[in-house]
Amino acid sequence: MNFSDSERIAGILETAGYEKTEALAKADVIVVTMCSIRQSAVDRIHSLVEKFNKIKQARKLQTTHYPLQTVLTGCVLKRDKNIFIEGFDYVLDIKDIAQLPKILKNKTSANTSQLCHDKDTKYLDIAPKHESKFTATVPIMTGCNNFCAYCVVPYTREREISRPAENIIKEVKNLVDNGYKEIWLLGQNVNSYRSQINTNKNSRIFANKISENSCVISFAKLLTLINQIPGEFWVRYTSSHPKDFKQDVISAMAEGNHISPYLNLPVQSGDNKVLKSMNRHYTVAQYKEKIKQLRKAIPNICLSTDIIVGFPGETKKQFENTVKLFKEIKYDMAYINKYSKRSGTLAYKLGDKILADEKKCREKTLNDVLRKTALANNKKYVGKELLVLIDSKKDNKYFGRTNTYKLVEVTSNKKGLVGNFIKVKITKANPWRLEAKIIN
Ligand code: 5AD
Ligand code: SF4
Repeated sequence: MNFSDSERIAGILETAGYEKTEALAKADVIVVTMCSIRQSAVDRIHSLVEKFNKIKQARKLQTTHYPLQTVLTGCVLKRDKNIFIEGFDYVLDIKDIAQLPKILKNKTSANTSQLCHDKDTKYLDIAPKHESKFTATVPIMTGCNNFCAYCVVPYTREREISRPAENIIKEVKNLVDNGYKEIWLLGQNVNSYRSQINTNKNSRIFANKISENSCVISFAKLLTLINQIPGEFWVRYTSSHPKDFKQDVISAMAEGNHISPYLNLPVQSGDNKVLKSMNRHYTVAQYKEKIKQLRKAIPNICLSTDIIVGFPGETKKQFENTVKLFKEIKYDMAYINKYSKRSGTLAYKLGDKILADEKKCREKTLNDVLRKTALANNKKYVGKELLVLIDSKKDNKYFGRTNTYKLVEVTSNKKGLVGNFIKVKITKANPWRLEAKIIN
């Protein structure tokens, strides 16, 4: 989401006449889109402030002195806003980024958090400046109502709000018409996406009618509508909450030929007691049942998850339940996070007594299981012929992704493959990468 927000910021600044520079020292304006999920990300901002101050000092000594304006936005906790206002010229709420050119021009008051900001999704409709010509992110909702005990998102992004379905469909259609081949639908909790649509204006769109001339679009329905857009493209999405991930989405994924058979379904822990104190509202058995249904409907589904190791009070035995779940589910990928205590969250008062070394050890244990299951899953690909969307090139090696989001390395001397679907045959499996040759 921060990457996507940065593309909207770039879009706004470009429209206002700014140009992108790769050299920090040459910049008139630096905008930092920060993340507050872990304290380590917040700490990195402090070192950036030092760097920016050095540039500002150096500028003052130059004869042709032009000032540097620095802006902090993204996911910022209220407490940190007050701290960072010392280091940045402006601290701007992400929903107010449309006002950025005006603020820079008028040098509006330093702490802009008092600006009356849009409480809706208007900022998500700002035209982004996409870095890629073939892969794009499209936000569908923002905010979160779940208040997982460890998480800052409900505080930094506030409550859930969904973008109108018409705007999303229009944006995706426009991207596909312009040759984009991979669309990532984004939201902190996409499964609770919900918008109302005017059925008079969109007569071909059907959903649960709530009145004569309007109906409700759920996430499953949105996937189905996007799937109807003509063109050659894949749709992926993130993030999902297991409690809201239901059969209707499984069916939409199974039936939609554009919808990628890949799912990140964050389980966070494999222990019911830990899940309860994380405030996750599902049990391990319910999670496993959803995976079972998913695999039944989409046998080639590729699965990843998010985990937090060392959540306050997580015993060795409780952690072993996560290891057990990893062995049972046989994930393709997992994002394993060491618990970071966050001010203002429900878990803050539970302390953070599990030692850093112990968290590291638990992270390694899960990674060891994951490496084995990922390799075993990848071996099933050897000999298969499939499409890969090539996204980069280094020397004579191309890199891309399958529709199941598997990383593939293709050796070829051919030119101009980046940004295209290429048919390949998988020749070798590694835990994190498949190797392949092009089929002519
Ligand atoms: N500490 C460690 N990891 C966290 N995450 C969220 N909050 C924390 C925290 N306080 C992880 C969760 C989530 C992912 C985006 O970040 O696993 O799914
Ligand atoms: Fe954070 Fe996701 Fe939980 Fe929302 S659902 S509070 S974003 S971990």
